[in-house]
Amino acid sequence: MIKYTLPRGTQDILPDKAIKKEYVLFVLKNVADFFGFNEIQTPVFENTEVFTRSVGEASDIVNKEMYTFLDRGNRSITLRPEGTAGIIRAFVENKLYATADLPYKVYYSYDVFRYERPQAGRYRQLNQFGIESIGTNSLYHDAEVILEMYHSLNELGIRDFYFKINNIGDEGCRSKYKLALKEYFANYLSDLCSDCKIRYEKNPLRILDCKIDSSKDYFKKAPKISDFLSDDSKKYFKNLLDILDEYQVNYEIDDSLVRGLDYYSETVFEVHVKSEEQDYGAIGGGGRYNNLVSDLGGPQLSSIGYSFGIERIILIMETQNLFDGIKNEILAYVMPLENTTSSYAFQVAMYLRFNQISTDIDFSGKSIKSLFKIADRKNAKYIILIGNDEMISNTVTIKNNATKEQVTIPVADLLDFFANDLIKEDNNENHHHDSKCSCHDNGNDNDHECTCDGDECECDENDNHHCSCHNH
Ligand code: HAM
Repeated sequence: MIKYTLPRGTQDILPDKAIKKEYVLFVLKNVADFFGFNEIQTPVFENTEVFTRSVGEASDIVNKEMYTFLDRGNRSITLRPEGTAGIIRAFVENKLYATADLPYKVYYSYDVFRYERPQAGRYRQLNQFGIESIGTNSLYHDAEVILEMYHSLNELGIRDFYFKINNIGDEGCRSKYKLALKEYFANYLSDLCSDCKIRYEKNPLRILDCKIDSSKDYFKKAPKISDFLSDDSKKYFKNLLDILDEYQVNYEIDDSLVRGLDYYSETVFEVHVKSEEQDYGAIGGGGRYNNLVSDLGGPQLSSIGYSFGIERIILIMETQNLFDGIKNEILAYVMPLENTTSSYAFQVAMYLRFNQISTDIDFSGKSIKSLFKIADRKNAKYIILIGNDEMISNTVTIKNNATKEQVTIPVADLLDFFANDLIKEDNNENHHHDSKCSCHDNGNDNDHECTCDGDECECDENDNHHCSCHNH
Protein backbone atom coordinates (compact mmCIF):
# COMPACT_ATOMS: atom_id res chain seq x y z
CA MET A 1 0.00 0.00 0.00
CA ILE A 2 1.45 3.40 -0.95
CA LYS A 3 1.76 5.74 2.02
CA TYR A 4 0.98 9.32 1.10
CA THR A 5 3.05 11.73 3.14
CA LEU A 6 3.93 15.40 3.28
CA PRO A 7 6.79 16.59 1.09
CA ARG A 8 9.88 17.10 3.30
CA GLY A 9 10.05 20.52 4.93
CA THR A 10 6.32 21.27 4.63
CA GLN A 11 3.65 21.08 7.29
CA ASP A 12 -0.09 20.67 7.58
CA ILE A 13 -1.48 23.62 9.44
CA LEU A 14 -4.43 22.06 11.26
CA PRO A 15 -7.19 24.28 12.72
CA ASP A 16 -5.58 24.56 16.19
CA LYS A 17 -2.42 25.96 14.60
CA ALA A 18 -4.20 27.88 11.85
CA ILE A 19 -5.99 30.05 14.41
CA LYS A 20 -2.66 30.96 16.02
CA LYS A 21 -1.25 31.92 12.64
CA GLU A 22 -4.36 33.94 11.86
CA TYR A 23 -4.01 35.76 15.19
CA VAL A 24 -0.31 36.56 14.61
CA LEU A 25 -1.03 37.88 11.10
CA PHE A 26 -3.98 39.89 12.39
CA VAL A 27 -1.75 41.66 14.94
CA LEU A 28 1.04 42.23 12.40
CA LYS A 29 -1.35 43.62 9.77
CA ASN A 30 -2.88 45.95 12.34
CA VAL A 31 0.47 47.38 13.34
CA ALA A 32 1.51 47.80 9.69
CA ASP A 33 -1.75 49.63 9.21
CA PHE A 34 -1.02 51.97 12.17
CA PHE A 35 2.29 52.80 10.51
CA GLY A 36 0.64 53.66 7.17
CA PHE A 37 1.46 50.54 5.14
CA ASN A 38 -1.06 48.98 2.69
CA GLU A 39 -1.30 45.35 1.63
CA ILE A 40 0.22 44.20 -1.67
CA GLN A 41 -0.07 40.81 -3.37
CA THR A 42 2.18 39.61 -6.19
CA PRO A 43 2.39 36.17 -7.88
CA VAL A 44 3.67 33.08 -6.07
CA PHE A 45 6.09 32.51 -8.96
CA GLU A 46 8.15 34.91 -11.03
CA ASN A 47 10.46 34.63 -14.01
CA THR A 48 13.68 33.23 -12.56
CA GLU A 49 15.83 36.28 -13.48
CA VAL A 50 13.84 38.43 -11.02
CA PHE A 51 15.56 36.51 -8.20
CA THR A 52 18.96 35.79 -9.74
CA ARG A 53 19.37 39.50 -10.53
CA SER A 54 18.27 40.72 -7.09
CA VAL A 55 18.95 38.14 -4.40
CA GLY A 56 22.32 37.49 -6.05
CA GLU A 57 24.11 34.74 -7.98
CA ALA A 58 26.45 34.04 -5.08
CA SER A 59 23.73 33.72 -2.42
CA ASP A 60 22.74 30.34 -1.00
CA ILE A 61 19.15 31.10 -1.92
CA VAL A 62 19.88 31.41 -5.64
CA ASN A 63 22.58 28.74 -5.74
CA LYS A 64 20.99 25.96 -3.78
CA GLU A 65 17.54 26.75 -2.52
CA MET A 66 15.26 27.88 -5.32
CA TYR A 67 12.40 25.80 -6.66
CA THR A 68 13.07 26.48 -10.32
CA PHE A 69 11.46 24.66 -13.24
CA LEU A 70 10.67 25.08 -16.92
CA ASP A 71 6.99 25.64 -17.57
CA ARG A 72 5.22 24.12 -20.57
CA GLY A 73 6.25 27.13 -22.64
CA ASN A 74 9.93 26.46 -21.78
CA ARG A 75 10.24 29.53 -19.57
CA SER A 76 12.34 29.32 -16.44
CA ILE A 77 10.01 29.94 -13.52
CA THR A 78 10.85 30.11 -9.79
CA LEU A 79 8.56 29.82 -6.77
CA ARG A 80 9.36 32.97 -4.79
CA PRO A 81 12.09 32.33 -2.19
CA GLU A 82 11.36 35.73 -0.57
CA GLY A 83 8.97 38.63 -1.08
CA THR A 84 11.03 41.75 -1.75
CA ALA A 85 12.23 41.04 -5.32
CA GLY A 86 8.72 40.35 -6.69
CA ILE A 87 7.37 43.50 -5.04
CA ILE A 88 10.12 45.63 -6.57
CA ARG A 89 9.46 43.97 -9.94
CA ALA A 90 5.79 45.01 -9.58
CA PHE A 91 6.79 48.52 -8.46
CA VAL A 92 8.94 48.98 -11.57
CA GLU A 93 6.59 47.23 -14.01
CA ASN A 94 3.64 49.37 -12.87
CA LYS A 95 5.82 52.53 -13.08
CA LEU A 96 4.88 53.38 -9.51
CA TYR A 97 8.11 55.36 -9.20
CA ALA A 98 6.45 57.92 -11.50
CA THR A 99 2.83 57.77 -10.35
CA ALA A 100 2.74 56.81 -6.67
CA ASP A 101 3.57 58.86 -3.60
CA LEU A 102 7.02 57.91 -2.34
CA PRO A 103 7.93 56.20 -0.21
CA TYR A 104 5.58 53.55 -1.49
CA LYS A 105 4.72 51.68 1.69
CA VAL A 106 3.41 48.12 1.47
CA TYR A 107 3.07 45.02 3.63
CA TYR A 108 2.60 41.40 2.60
CA SER A 109 2.02 37.95 3.98
CA TYR A 110 3.58 35.46 1.58
CA ASP A 111 4.27 31.77 1.50
CA VAL A 112 7.84 31.45 0.22
CA PHE A 113 9.80 28.38 -0.85
CA ARG A 114 13.41 27.47 -0.07
CA TYR A 115 15.05 24.10 -0.58
CA GLU A 116 16.81 24.13 2.80
CA ARG A 117 17.70 21.26 5.10
CA PRO A 118 14.58 20.97 7.29
CA GLN A 119 14.92 21.12 11.08
CA ALA A 120 13.02 22.69 13.97
CA GLY A 121 12.03 26.18 12.80
CA ARG A 122 13.34 25.63 9.28
CA TYR A 123 10.91 24.70 6.52
CA ARG A 124 10.83 24.50 2.76
CA GLN A 125 7.49 26.26 2.56
CA LEU A 126 7.28 29.08 5.08
CA ASN A 127 5.25 32.20 5.61
CA GLN A 128 6.85 35.61 5.73
CA PHE A 129 5.15 38.78 6.85
CA GLY A 130 7.05 41.84 5.77
CA ILE A 131 6.93 45.55 5.01
CA GLU A 132 8.78 47.57 2.36
CA SER A 133 9.20 51.34 2.25
CA ILE A 134 10.24 51.96 -1.35
CA GLY A 135 11.89 55.16 -2.55
CA THR A 136 13.33 56.93 0.47
CA ASN A 137 16.81 57.97 1.59
CA SER A 138 15.67 59.23 4.93
CA LEU A 139 17.20 57.83 8.06
CA TYR A 140 13.80 58.27 9.69
CA HIS A 141 12.40 55.56 7.43
CA ASP A 142 15.10 53.16 8.66
CA ALA A 143 13.97 54.04 12.17
CA GLU A 144 10.28 53.77 11.21
CA VAL A 145 10.72 50.26 9.79
CA ILE A 146 12.73 49.04 12.77
CA LEU A 147 10.29 50.58 15.25
CA GLU A 148 7.35 49.05 13.37
CA MET A 149 9.03 45.66 13.81
CA TYR A 150 9.75 46.44 17.47
CA HIS A 151 6.17 47.53 18.14
CA SER A 152 4.80 44.41 16.40
CA LEU A 153 6.83 42.13 18.66
CA ASN A 154 5.66 44.05 21.72
CA GLU A 155 2.04 43.82 20.56
CA LEU A 156 2.44 40.05 20.21
CA GLY A 157 3.81 40.02 23.75
CA ILE A 158 7.11 38.34 22.78
CA ARG A 159 9.70 38.63 25.54
CA ASP A 160 13.49 38.73 25.50
CA PHE A 161 13.91 39.75 21.88
CA TYR A 162 16.74 41.94 20.69
CA PHE A 163 18.02 43.33 17.41
CA LYS A 164 21.37 42.55 15.88
CA ILE A 165 22.24 45.54 13.77
CA ASN A 166 25.07 46.57 11.51
CA ASN A 167 25.92 48.97 8.73
CA ILE A 168 27.53 47.38 5.69
CA GLY A 169 28.26 50.68 3.94
CA ASP A 170 27.64 51.73 0.37
CA GLU A 171 29.04 50.13 -2.79
CA GLY A 172 32.34 51.98 -2.39
CA CYS A 173 32.96 50.79 1.19
CA ARG A 174 31.92 47.28 0.29
CA SER A 175 34.18 46.91 -2.73
CA LYS A 176 37.19 47.86 -0.56
CA TYR A 177 35.96 45.46 2.10
CA LYS A 178 35.53 42.63 -0.41
CA LEU A 179 39.14 43.10 -1.56
CA ALA A 180 40.33 42.94 2.05
CA LEU A 181 38.29 39.76 2.62
CA LYS A 182 39.77 38.20 -0.51
CA GLU A 183 43.26 38.99 0.64
CA TYR A 184 42.54 37.60 4.09
CA PHE A 185 40.80 34.38 3.02
CA ALA A 186 43.52 33.72 0.39
CA ASN A 187 45.58 32.41 3.33
CA TYR A 188 42.84 29.91 4.22
CA LEU A 189 41.66 28.88 0.75
CA SER A 190 42.42 25.21 1.25
CA ASP A 191 40.48 25.20 4.57
CA LEU A 192 37.33 26.74 3.07
CA CYS A 193 34.35 24.49 2.30
CA SER A 194 33.55 23.86 -1.37
CA ASP A 195 30.74 26.47 -1.35
CA CYS A 196 33.01 29.11 0.16
CA LYS A 197 35.62 28.46 -2.53
CA ILE A 198 32.96 29.52 -5.07
CA ARG A 199 31.87 32.44 -2.85
CA TYR A 200 35.52 33.53 -2.70
CA GLU A 201 35.43 34.02 -6.47
CA LYS A 202 31.89 35.37 -6.86
CA ASN A 203 31.28 37.46 -3.73
CA PRO A 204 33.66 37.02 -0.75
CA LEU A 205 31.14 38.79 1.51
CA ARG A 206 28.99 35.67 1.34
CA ILE A 207 31.82 33.63 2.97
CA LEU A 208 30.84 35.30 6.25
CA ASP A 209 27.42 33.54 6.07
CA CYS A 210 29.03 30.08 5.91
CA LYS A 211 26.84 27.75 7.93
CA ILE A 212 29.68 25.25 8.35
CA ASP A 213 32.75 27.25 9.40
CA SER A 214 31.56 30.66 10.59
CA SER A 215 32.27 29.87 14.25
CA LYS A 216 35.93 28.99 13.55
CA ASP A 217 38.65 31.23 14.88
CA TYR A 218 40.00 32.37 11.54
CA PHE A 219 36.47 33.51 10.58
CA LYS A 220 36.20 35.55 13.73
CA LYS A 221 39.52 37.25 12.99
CA ALA A 222 38.50 38.22 9.43
CA PRO A 223 38.46 41.97 8.62
CA LYS A 224 35.36 43.82 9.81
CA ILE A 225 33.20 46.05 7.63
CA SER A 226 33.27 48.70 10.38
CA ASP A 227 36.91 49.39 9.49
CA PHE A 228 35.93 50.21 5.91
CA LEU A 229 32.93 52.47 6.45
CA SER A 230 33.00 56.00 5.05
CA ASP A 231 32.43 58.90 7.44
CA ASP A 232 28.94 59.35 5.97
CA SER A 233 28.00 55.73 6.65
CA LYS A 234 29.40 55.93 10.18
CA LYS A 235 27.40 59.08 10.85
CA TYR A 236 24.24 57.56 9.36
CA PHE A 237 24.62 54.50 11.57
CA LYS A 238 25.24 56.54 14.69
CA ASN A 239 22.22 58.76 14.07
CA LEU A 240 20.03 55.70 13.58
CA LEU A 241 21.28 54.13 16.81
CA ASP A 242 20.55 57.41 18.62
CA ILE A 243 16.91 57.21 17.53
CA LEU A 244 16.67 53.56 18.58
CA ASP A 245 18.15 54.53 21.96
CA GLU A 246 15.47 57.16 22.39
CA TYR A 247 12.85 54.44 22.01
CA GLN A 248 14.81 52.06 24.24
CA VAL A 249 15.07 49.42 21.55
CA ASN A 250 17.21 46.55 22.76
CA TYR A 251 19.98 46.01 20.20
CA GLU A 252 23.50 44.67 19.82
CA ILE A 253 25.87 45.96 17.16
CA ASP A 254 27.08 42.88 15.31
CA ASP A 255 29.84 43.80 12.90
CA SER A 256 29.85 40.34 11.36
CA LEU A 257 26.19 40.63 10.30
CA VAL A 258 26.07 40.90 6.49
CA ARG A 259 22.77 39.01 5.74
CA GLY A 260 22.39 36.28 3.16
CA LEU A 261 20.93 38.31 0.30
CA ASP A 262 23.06 40.44 -2.01
CA TYR A 263 20.82 43.47 -2.35
CA TYR A 264 21.58 45.18 0.97
CA SER A 265 23.52 48.38 1.60
CA GLU A 266 24.03 50.46 4.74
CA THR A 267 21.59 49.39 7.48
CA VAL A 268 21.05 45.63 8.08
CA PHE A 269 19.35 44.00 11.06
CA GLU A 270 17.89 40.80 12.44
CA VAL A 271 15.73 39.99 15.45
CA HIS A 272 16.65 37.14 17.79
CA VAL A 273 15.12 35.85 20.98
CA LYS A 274 17.32 35.02 23.95
CA SER A 275 16.06 31.65 24.93
CA GLU A 276 17.23 28.90 27.20
CA GLU A 277 15.38 26.45 25.01
CA GLN A 278 16.11 25.78 21.38
CA ASP A 279 17.45 28.59 19.22
CA TYR A 280 15.43 28.70 16.00
CA GLY A 281 17.61 31.40 14.45
CA ALA A 282 16.46 34.89 13.52
CA ILE A 283 12.72 35.47 13.74
CA GLY A 284 13.02 38.31 11.26
CA GLY A 285 15.51 40.30 9.28
CA GLY A 286 15.85 43.10 6.80
CA GLY A 287 17.75 46.14 5.74
CA ARG A 288 18.21 48.97 3.28
CA TYR A 289 18.61 48.20 -0.40
CA ASN A 290 19.85 50.94 -2.66
CA ASN A 291 20.10 49.29 -6.06
CA LEU A 292 17.26 46.82 -6.31
CA VAL A 293 14.85 49.19 -8.06
CA SER A 294 17.49 50.15 -10.66
CA ASP A 295 18.73 46.54 -11.00
CA LEU A 296 15.18 45.54 -11.96
CA GLY A 297 14.88 48.29 -14.58
CA GLY A 298 13.64 51.32 -12.60
CA PRO A 299 15.36 54.53 -11.53
CA GLN A 300 17.92 54.75 -8.74
CA LEU A 301 15.72 54.67 -5.61
CA SER A 302 16.74 53.57 -2.18
CA SER A 303 14.38 51.50 -0.01
CA ILE A 304 14.16 49.60 3.26
CA GLY A 305 12.15 46.66 4.57
CA TYR A 306 12.12 43.53 6.66
CA SER A 307 10.30 40.23 6.96
CA PHE A 308 9.33 38.02 9.87
CA GLY A 309 9.34 34.22 9.71
CA ILE A 310 5.83 33.43 10.91
CA GLU A 311 6.52 29.78 11.82
CA ARG A 312 9.39 30.86 14.06
CA ILE A 313 7.24 33.55 15.68
CA ILE A 314 4.58 30.91 16.41
CA LEU A 315 7.19 28.54 17.89
CA ILE A 316 8.54 31.27 20.18
CA MET A 317 5.05 32.35 21.21
CA GLU A 318 4.15 28.74 22.03
CA THR A 319 7.29 28.44 24.17
CA GLN A 320 6.38 31.68 25.94
CA ASN A 321 2.72 30.59 26.41
CA LEU A 322 1.38 33.55 24.49
CA PHE A 323 -1.60 31.84 22.90
CA ASP A 324 -3.74 31.47 26.03
CA GLY A 325 -7.36 32.03 25.05
CA ILE A 326 -6.64 31.84 21.30
CA LYS A 327 -8.76 28.90 20.24
CA ASN A 328 -11.46 27.95 17.78
CA GLU A 329 -14.85 28.42 19.38
CA ILE A 330 -18.50 28.73 18.49
CA LEU A 331 -21.32 30.58 20.12
CA ALA A 332 -24.03 27.96 19.78
CA TYR A 333 -24.08 24.18 19.57
CA VAL A 334 -27.50 22.85 18.63
CA MET A 335 -28.50 19.41 19.88
CA PRO A 336 -31.53 17.64 18.42
CA LEU A 337 -32.58 15.44 21.35
CA GLU A 338 -34.67 13.03 19.27
CA ASN A 339 -34.63 11.97 15.62
CA THR A 340 -37.99 13.61 15.13
CA THR A 341 -36.56 17.05 15.99
CA SER A 342 -33.74 17.03 13.41
CA SER A 343 -35.62 19.08 10.84
CA TYR A 344 -36.66 21.75 13.40
CA ALA A 345 -33.12 21.81 14.88
CA PHE A 346 -31.69 22.20 11.37
CA GLN A 347 -33.92 25.23 10.78
CA VAL A 348 -32.86 26.78 14.12
CA ALA A 349 -29.16 26.27 13.28
CA MET A 350 -29.58 27.77 9.82
CA TYR A 351 -31.52 30.73 11.23
CA LEU A 352 -28.67 31.47 13.66
CA ARG A 353 -25.98 31.11 11.00
CA PHE A 354 -27.82 33.39 8.58
CA ASN A 355 -27.91 35.94 11.41
CA GLN A 356 -24.14 35.90 12.12
CA ILE A 357 -24.24 33.58 15.15
CA SER A 358 -21.49 30.96 14.78
CA THR A 359 -23.31 27.67 15.18
CA ASP A 360 -22.68 23.97 14.80
CA ILE A 361 -24.99 20.95 14.93
CA ASP A 362 -24.66 17.16 14.80
CA PHE A 363 -27.12 14.83 13.08
CA SER A 364 -25.30 11.54 13.60
CA GLY A 365 -27.57 10.37 16.43
CA LYS A 366 -24.82 10.36 19.08
CA SER A 367 -25.77 10.07 22.74
CA ILE A 368 -26.47 13.30 24.62
CA LYS A 369 -23.39 12.62 26.75
CA SER A 370 -21.16 12.50 23.65
CA LEU A 371 -22.78 15.62 22.26
CA PHE A 372 -22.00 17.52 25.47
CA LYS A 373 -18.38 16.41 25.21
CA ILE A 374 -18.22 17.58 21.61
CA ALA A 375 -19.74 20.93 22.61
CA ASP A 376 -16.94 21.30 25.17
CA ARG A 377 -14.26 20.40 22.64
CA LYS A 378 -15.72 22.96 20.25
CA ASN A 379 -15.60 25.57 23.05
CA ALA A 380 -19.32 26.24 22.57
CA LYS A 381 -20.58 29.08 24.74
CA TYR A 382 -24.23 28.00 24.57
CA ILE A 383 -25.91 24.69 24.02
CA ILE A 384 -29.31 24.79 22.38
CA LEU A 385 -31.38 21.78 23.33
CA ILE A 386 -34.19 20.80 21.02
CA GLY A 387 -36.64 18.11 22.10
CA ASN A 388 -40.23 17.43 21.14
CA ASP A 389 -41.61 20.00 23.64
CA GLU A 390 -39.49 22.74 22.11
CA MET A 391 -40.48 21.74 18.59
CA ILE A 392 -44.20 21.76 19.40
CA SER A 393 -44.09 25.11 21.19
CA ASN A 394 -41.69 26.76 18.70
CA THR A 395 -39.15 27.39 21.47
CA VAL A 396 -35.58 26.41 22.28
CA THR A 397 -33.85 25.67 25.57
CA ILE A 398 -30.55 27.52 25.89
CA LYS A 399 -27.94 26.41 28.36
CA ASN A 400 -24.95 28.58 29.21
CA ASN A 401 -22.12 26.07 29.05
CA ALA A 402 -20.05 27.90 31.68
CA THR A 403 -22.66 28.82 34.32
CA LYS A 404 -24.98 25.90 33.41
CA GLU A 405 -27.94 28.32 33.68
CA GLN A 406 -30.78 27.30 31.41
CA VAL A 407 -33.84 29.10 29.97
CA THR A 408 -36.54 28.19 27.45
CA ILE A 409 -37.46 31.02 25.07
CA PRO A 410 -39.42 31.40 21.82
CA VAL A 411 -37.32 31.08 18.66
CA ALA A 412 -38.46 34.60 17.78
CA ASP A 413 -36.52 35.90 20.84
CA LEU A 414 -33.29 34.05 20.06
CA LEU A 415 -31.47 36.89 18.32
CA ASP A 416 -32.36 39.35 21.09
CA PHE A 417 -31.08 36.85 23.63
CA PHE A 418 -27.70 36.65 21.91
CA ALA A 419 -27.52 40.39 21.32
CA ASN A 420 -28.19 41.15 25.03
CA ASP A 421 -25.85 38.50 26.22
CA LEU A 422 -23.01 39.64 23.99
CA ILE A 423 -23.44 43.26 25.06
CA LYS A 424 -23.31 42.13 28.69
CA GLU A 425 -20.16 40.17 27.99
CA ASP A 426 -18.55 43.11 26.20
CA ASN A 427 -19.19 45.36 29.17
CA ASN A 428 -17.70 42.88 31.58
CA GLU A 429 -14.60 42.53 29.46
CA ASN A 430 -14.18 46.26 29.22
CA HIS A 431 -14.26 46.54 32.96
CA HIS A 432 -11.36 44.17 33.24
CA HIS A 433 -9.23 46.33 30.99
CA ASP A 434 -7.64 49.17 32.90
CA SER A 435 -6.91 50.92 29.66
CA LYS A 436 -10.61 51.27 28.83
CA CYS A 437 -11.29 53.24 31.99
CA SER A 438 -9.79 56.64 31.58
CA CYS A 439 -10.34 59.55 33.83
CA HIS A 440 -10.81 63.03 32.46
CA ASP A 441 -9.40 65.74 34.62
CA ASN A 442 -11.76 68.73 34.66
CA GLY A 443 -9.01 71.07 35.75
CA ASN A 444 -9.90 70.64 39.38
CA ASP A 445 -7.93 67.87 41.05
CA ASN A 446 -10.80 66.83 43.24
CA ASP A 447 -13.40 66.92 40.56
CA HIS A 448 -12.66 64.65 37.66
CA GLU A 449 -15.00 62.73 35.49
CA CYS A 450 -14.69 59.00 35.11
CA THR A 451 -15.76 57.36 31.87
CA CYS A 452 -16.04 54.02 33.60
CA ASP A 453 -19.51 53.14 34.85
CA GLY A 454 -18.32 50.35 37.09
CA ASP A 455 -19.56 50.15 40.68
CA GLU A 456 -16.24 50.55 42.41
CA CYS A 457 -14.03 52.52 40.18
CA GLU A 458 -10.97 54.02 41.79
CA CYS A 459 -9.05 56.85 40.31
CA ASP A 460 -5.42 57.30 41.27
CA GLU A 461 -4.79 61.02 41.44
CA ASN A 462 -1.09 60.48 42.00
CA ASP A 463 -0.78 58.44 38.86
CA ASN A 464 -2.01 60.86 36.23
CA HIS A 465 -5.63 60.09 37.12
CA HIS A 466 -5.18 56.54 35.96
CA CYS A 467 -8.38 54.73 36.66
CA SER A 468 -8.62 51.07 37.52
CA CYS A 469 -11.70 48.94 37.96
CA HIS A 470 -12.15 46.53 40.80
CA ASN A 471 -14.59 43.82 41.68
CA HIS A 472 -16.34 43.42 38.37
P1 HAM B 1 15.51 36.50 5.28
O1 HAM B 1 16.41 36.80 6.42
O2 HAM B 1 16.04 35.59 4.25
O3 HAM B 1 15.10 37.89 4.64
O4 HAM B 1 14.17 35.89 5.83
C1 HAM B 1 13.39 36.58 6.79
C2 HAM B 1 12.95 35.65 7.90
O5 HAM B 1 12.27 34.50 7.34
C3 HAM B 1 14.09 35.02 8.70
O6 HAM B 1 14.53 35.91 9.72
C4 HAM B 1 13.42 33.79 9.29
O7 HAM B 1 12.68 34.13 10.44
C5 HAM B 1 12.44 33.40 8.21
N1 HAM B 1 13.00 32.24 7.45
C6 HAM B 1 13.90 32.28 6.46
N2 HAM B 1 14.13 31.03 5.99
C7 HAM B 1 13.35 30.19 6.72
C8 HAM B 1 13.09 28.77 6.71
N3 HAM B 1 13.68 27.97 5.85
N4 HAM B 1 12.19 28.28 7.59
C9 HAM B 1 11.55 29.09 8.47
N5 HAM B 1 11.74 30.44 8.51
C10 HAM B 1 12.61 30.98 7.66
C11 HAM B 1 14.30 38.02 3.56
O8 HAM B 1 13.66 37.13 3.05
C12 HAM B 1 14.21 39.45 3.04
N6 HAM B 1 13.29 39.47 1.90
C13 HAM B 1 13.76 40.40 4.13
C14 HAM B 1 13.67 41.81 3.63
C15 HAM B 1 12.56 42.47 3.31
N7 HAM B 1 14.70 42.60 3.42
C16 HAM B 1 14.25 43.75 2.96
N8 HAM B 1 12.95 43.68 2.86
